[in-house]
Amino acid sequence: MTSAPEAGTPLPPGRAGSNRILQYVLHYRWRYGGGMVALILATIASLLPPVVIQRAVDDLRDGIAMDSLAQYAGLIAILAVVEGTLRYYSRMVVSGTSRMIEYRLRDDLARHLMALDHNYYVHARTGDLMSRATNDLQAVRDVLGPSLVDMSRILVVGVAGILFMLFIDVRLTLIALVYLPVVIGLMSFFETNVEHRFMEVQEQLSHLTDRSQENIAGIRAVKAYAQEDAEIASFAQANEEMRGRAMRLALYHSGLFPIMGVLTGAGTLLVLWVGGHDVVAGRMSMGEFVAFNFILAVLANQLMAVGWVVAMAQLGTVAIRRVNEVLRTVPSVLDGTGTPPPLPVRGEVEFTNVSVAFEGREVLHDVNLRIPAGATVALVGGTGAGKTTLAGLLVRLSDPTGGSVCLDGVDVREWPLPLLRDSVAFVPQEAFLFSDSIRENISYGRPEAGDAEYDLATRISRLSNDLKDLTDGLETTIGERGVTLSGGQKQRAALARALMKQAPVLVLDDALSHVDTQTEEQILEGLNDVMAGRTTILIAHRTSTLRSADLLAIIEGGTIVERGSHDELLAADGVYARIYREQLDAERRAQEQADIDLGGGGA
Ligand code: GTP
Ligand code: MG
Repeated sequence: MTSAPEAGTPLPPGRAGSNRILQYVLHYRWRYGGGMVALILATIASLLPPVVIQRAVDDLRDGIAMDSLAQYAGLIAILAVVEGTLRYYSRMVVSGTSRMIEYRLRDDLARHLMALDHNYYVHARTGDLMSRATNDLQAVRDVLGPSLVDMSRILVVGVAGILFMLFIDVRLTLIALVYLPVVIGLMSFFETNVEHRFMEVQEQLSHLTDRSQENIAGIRAVKAYAQEDAEIASFAQANEEMRGRAMRLALYHSGLFPIMGVLTGAGTLLVLWVGGHDVVAGRMSMGEFVAFNFILAVLANQLMAVGWVVAMAQLGTVAIRRVNEVLRTVPSVLDGTGTPPPLPVRGEVEFTNVSVAFEGREVLHDVNLRIPAGATVALVGGTGAGKTTLAGLLVRLSDPTGGSVCLDGVDVREWPLPLLRDSVAFVPQEAFLFSDSIRENISYGRPEAGDAEYDLATRISRLSNDLKDLTDGLETTIGERGVTLSGGQKQRAALARALMKQAPVLVLDDALSHVDTQTEEQILEGLNDVMAGRTTILIAHRTSTLRSADLLAIIEGGTIVERGSHDELLAADGVYARIYREQLDAERRAQEQADIDLGGGGA
C-alpha cells in the first residue's frame, strides 16, 4: 500500500490558492479508484443472489433435485463471501485514504497558520480556528471516507438494481419507481436546508469554543472581577443557542430517512399488487416475481439511506468550505524575492516617509528616522502613539502603507523573512512564554545554545538572581504562558531569549516596564557591553531609561516631532522636556508621600 506521506511535503505553492482538498483527492485517485472498483464488484455480487433465487424458485415449480438446490445455496454463500471481502477492502482503502488526507490537511493547516501574518490574527478568533482545525477537519474526513463509500454504494446499487429490474419487467419497474420524482424533489429541499443549518451549527460551535478558550485563558481576570456566575450564565446561553441549532439540524438531518421509508414502502405495495396479478395471470413467472421483489427490497433499503447520505455530503461540503477558507487566505507578508542583502548584517536601520494606516485610520505618517549601525535610539511617546507599530515594521509584523523601511540599505520587503527575523531580536511589549521549562523558553529558536550563552543571557537579563530561588533553576517548568513567574521575571525571561539570539539589532519594546528601576539600570548597563557595535531600538516610558540613548525620537500625532540627545532635548524645552519635568514632579510627589507615610507610621 502507499506509504504515509511525510509531513514536510506540501503541495506546490503555486497551487496553494486553489482547492487543496480536491488536489488531495486527485492525488490519491488510484487508491480511490481501487476502492471504487471493489465497491462496484461487491454491489454486483450483492445483486446476484436474487437471480440465483429466481432460478431456484422456477426450478422448484418444475420439481428439482435436492443436490441442485444445495448448489444454489452454495452459490449464494460464495457470493456472500465475495461481497463481504470486497466490501471490507473498499471500505478499508477509502477510509484509510480519507485519514491520510485528513493528516495532510491538518499538517497544511498548521503550516499555513504559521505563515499567516499578524494582520490575519487581529481579525481571526482562536476558537473559530480551533473549531475548523478539529470539527470541520473531521467532517471533511467523514465525507471523503465513509460517506463517500455510502454515496457510491447507493449510486451503484441504484443504477445496477434498476437495470436488473428493467431486465426482468419494464412495466413493473416503472410502477416501482413512480415515486422517484418525489424523492428527487425532497432531496433538493433537504439538501439546502441541511447545509444552511449545519453552517449555523458550526458557526455557533466556533463561538462556543472561542468563549471557553477565552474564559480559560482569562481565568485570572474572571476571578478578579468575580464574574464566574456571569460567565457561566453567558456560556449557558451560548450553549442553549447551540442546542437549538443542533436540534433544528437534527430535524432536517433525520427527516428524509422516514419519508423515504414510507415512499419505498408504498412502491413495494404497488409492485406486490400489480406483480401478483401478473403472476396469477401467467404474464410473469414466480421466480421473476420473487427476484424482482428481492431487488426492490435491496434498492429500498439503500434509498432509505439516501437522506442520511445527502445530509452527510452537505455537512462535508460546508466543512470543506470552512477549511478551504483558512487555506486560501494569502498571507499579506510574503517572503522577499529580491537580491539577498550583503552579509554580515551591520544593523543600519532607515525609515523613509513611513506611513501606516489600520482600516483607513492613519496611525503614523511621514516618519523619517535613520539609525546608524551600532547606535542606540529611543522611541518616546504617549500610549497609542505608534511606537510598537513603528518598531514592528522592522521585523514585518506588518508592512507600511507608504514609504519604506530599510535594513542595511535594503528594503525589508526584499529580505528573505527568516534572515530578516534572525537579524533582529525583538522583545515584544507583552512577554509570551510557553508552558515549558525556563531553559526551553529562553533557548527558543536556538536549541543548540551552549552553557556559556545561557550564562551570559541570564546574567545580563538579571534572571540569574531569580533562578537561585526557583526549585529547579533553569529546568523549572513555568506553567501555561508562564503563570508561575512574576511580571518582571517574565519580561526578563523574554529579554534573555532575545539575547540568546545574538542578533545585530535588538528591539526592546517597553520590555523592562515591570522591572524595578534599580534592576533596570543594572540590565541597561550590562546591555551596553553586549550591544557595543550592535543597533538597539529602545521603547520606554521612564526617562531614566531613555537618557542613555544616543538619539531620542519623540513621536506625537503620528510622526516624529523632536529628535536629539537627552541634553539637547532638555535644552530645546519642547515635548520631551515637558515629559521629563512631569516625571520628575511625579517622582518627587511619590517620594514625599512615602516620607509622610513612613513618618506617620513611626509616630
Ligand atoms: P503603548 O504601547 O501603549 O505605549 O503604545 P504604542 O505607541 O506602542 O502604540 P501602538 O503602536 O501599539 O498603537 C498605535 C495605534 O495603532 C493605536 O491607536 C492602536 O489602537 C492602533 N493599532 C495598533 N495595532 C493595530 C492593529 O493591528 N489593528 C488596528 N486596527 N489598530 C492597531
Ligand atoms: Mg507599544
